[in-house]
Amino acid sequence: MRIGFFDSGIGGLTVLHQALKFLPQEDYLFYADTAHVPYGDKTKAEVRAYILQAVEFIARHNIKALVIACNTATSIVIEELRQRYDFPVLGIEPAVKPAVEQSEGKQKKVLVLATRLTLQEKKYHDLVHRIDHGEIVDSLPLPGLVQFAERFEFDDKTIIPYLYKELAHLELERYSTVVLGCTHFPYFVESLRQVFPPGVNFISGSMGTARHLAHLLEAKDQVNQGTGEILFFRSNVQVDDPATLAKYYSLFKRLDEIEKRE
Ligand code: SIN
Repeated sequence: MRIGFFDSGIGGLTVLHQALKFLPQEDYLFYADTAHVPYGDKTKAEVRAYILQAVEFIARHNIKALVIACNTATSIVIEELRQRYDFPVLGIEPAVKPAVEQSEGKQKKVLVLATRLTLQEKKYHDLVHRIDHGEIVDSLPLPGLVQFAERFEFDDKTIIPYLYKELAHLELERYSTVVLGCTHFPYFVESLRQVFPPGVNFISGSMGTARHLAHLLEAKDQVNQGTGEILFFRSNVQVDDPATLAKYYSLFKRLDEIEKRE
């Protein structure tokens, strides 16, 4: 059986990239809802309908677990999906807890970057309320990064000016930790580093979700010794043209290189 991964677009590959480290011999199905990306600027009702439709399609493919590798989707439907399906459904949340722990004693703040929809959802507010007793967490939507990623524009010369413009109203030296609360954002760590003062720590929830997936399969004795095959879907259409597949695989390489330089 395969492990399903779902995202609005290519952001979910940043989570699959981590999962491949823990579970290299699993077979995967990666579904990007490219017909409807970006989710972050749509209404909650629209996004919920898109996700339910996509997951219904994924569920027909004999999967043993599903990872909602999208912060926006997690914040909107994770509980509903868990009630609907028998297989385990894992999500990804902004890594607020480790960020607040890392900032303790530093007299510095935490900045959570995500989509507008993630930041306005009750799930996010409850999370911050539970953890942020010192009121050190600020948040900011950065929808432009989702668009850059979906166009495969990771080094575009307009990215840095975009970041300066969006961050202009914040005192960046007040932050010690930045949470990448959207799975599209890890592609842009190096651009973000150029804009924030030196020493700022960037963290995402990808590794935590991948580790959780591995533990879950181990506990259920369901770890596979398969070939590590990945089937890619763009909305309900399987991707089989070599050029698009090569572009997807190049993203794993890009993420490896970013990690090596960290
Ligand atoms: C988006 O589709 O706007 C991004 C979704 C996410 O990863 O939160």
